[in-house]
Amino acid sequence: MSLEVIILAAGKGKRMHSKLPKVLHKVANKPMLEHVIDTTASLNPESIHVVVGHMAELVEQMVNGLSDDLKKLVKIDLQKEQLGTGHAVSCAMGDIKDESDVLVLYGDTPLTPAPLLQDLIASLQGKEMSVLTAFADNPFGYGRIIRNEQGNLQKIVEEKDATDEERKINEVNTGMIVCKGKTLKEYLPQIKNNNKQGEYYLTDLSGMLASAGKAVGILVAPDFEILSGVNSKPQLAFVERLYQKNAAQKLLEEGVTLADPSRFDLRGSLKCGEDVFIDINCIFEGNVELGNNVVIGAGCVIKNCSIGDGSIISPYTVMEDSVIKRKATIGPFARLRPGNTLEDEVHVGNFVECKKSHLGLGTKAGHLSYLGDATIGKDVNIGAGTITCNYDGANKFRTEIGDDVFIGSDSQLVAPVSIKNGVTIAAGTTVTRHTQMDEKDLVLTRSETKIVKKYARPHKNK
Ligand code: UD1
Ligand code: CA
Repeated sequence: MSLEVIILAAGKGKRMHSKLPKVLHKVANKPMLEHVIDTTASLNPESIHVVVGHMAELVEQMVNGLSDDLKKLVKIDLQKEQLGTGHAVSCAMGDIKDESDVLVLYGDTPLTPAPLLQDLIASLQGKEMSVLTAFADNPFGYGRIIRNEQGNLQKIVEEKDATDEERKINEVNTGMIVCKGKTLKEYLPQIKNNNKQGEYYLTDLSGMLASAGKAVGILVAPDFEILSGVNSKPQLAFVERLYQKNAAQKLLEEGVTLADPSRFDLRGSLKCGEDVFIDINCIFEGNVELGNNVVIGAGCVIKNCSIGDGSIISPYTVMEDSVIKRKATIGPFARLRPGNTLEDEVHVGNFVECKKSHLGLGTKAGHLSYLGDATIGKDVNIGAGTITCNYDGANKFRTEIGDDVFIGSDSQLVAPVSIKNGVTIAAGTTVTRHTQMDEKDLVLTRSETKIVKKYARPHKNK
């Protein structure tokens, strides 16, 4: 049976109090709509229709930024006026096939697990439509499931239209349904908007089908929380925490030690080897890989990096797009901007910034340095306060440093510049491309120290 998916994403999301369309608000740094698209793509549908409306261009822009594989699947349908969820679905029906199973999802429900959707699709067997419901401790705001005496679905009543009795029902509509294409085409045009909100509710479909004697199924989800819709910032925060709680739990189960799973944030993917320890309040973004026995100190922000076995990242280190090999020690308070490779046993200490630099085996930059556009050999010692002057106001230049070089504290290396193997640069030296040196030379720029006897320092008049 072929599967087509419709994702509703046209609403403004008034209750978010934001200029951004609701479905673009992020969970784990990824738009909610993208979560839904990713999940549905894993069901191998023939097509994914995204219904856009409010600030359609912005939502389309997000879709256009997806991978090519996804873009091939996604079709955009415009709902000019947001007249309700039923109307939104009809905007996507154009080329939906009669014989397709049509899965309808809401762009504001980002955490629905794919296996549950698979179960929902399977529950359509022998029915015209099937609805995913769940039992909520606090059903406020959700459509309520009204069952008849046989326990079959009779209708769905929205919060605002429900009687006091109906509001007491805690079986809620998650918003997710699966329906035969043909059935949708027949019944969508019959939906009326005679309700409190004056909207064409998709939820009316179930009642219409039931009273026409059609078989409507219900799949009750085992857990409601994960199916929570986001209509407001408190709900967004709730869903974000739930996502993080689950991500942390998964890592714990894989054997990662988290100092506190409630103070852990994953905004991408994190692969860990054995015996990894992650202290509190770290953020992992993009694709991060940690080898065996890696230690990540408190408060680190790590984006698109791979860190080799036995490396220790001390607290409050910020790094992105860098490769750190084995047994390196980084931080505390180090900053790796994009494009670095740090070989085995490199040490980068506090207040050292690196960018597009290669640090060879065992090289150390312990304190207060800027290493930009530098290729540094092995066993080099970079003294405190060393600066690669890589920028002349218009162009960037590289610094090359050989093996076994010692750079004294507070030196400036004015790029383009090359420092030969075994050279010692004395503290406070300015090296330029004009500095002549051979291997193992000592390079120093130091003028004779002058003494002014009994110098009278300026004093403030009291
Ligand atoms: C909806 C359901 C409710 C269910 C709840 C689950 C209806 C009428 N109500 O309520 O039964 O319990 O979700 O979370 O369906 N949208 C459009 N075009 C529109 C209106 C909405 O594309 O004209 C989109 C929104 O962008 C959103 C989704 O549909 O992604 C749901 O709309 P929303 O207004 O959030 O519905 P709820 O009040 O949450
Ligand atoms: Ca909603």
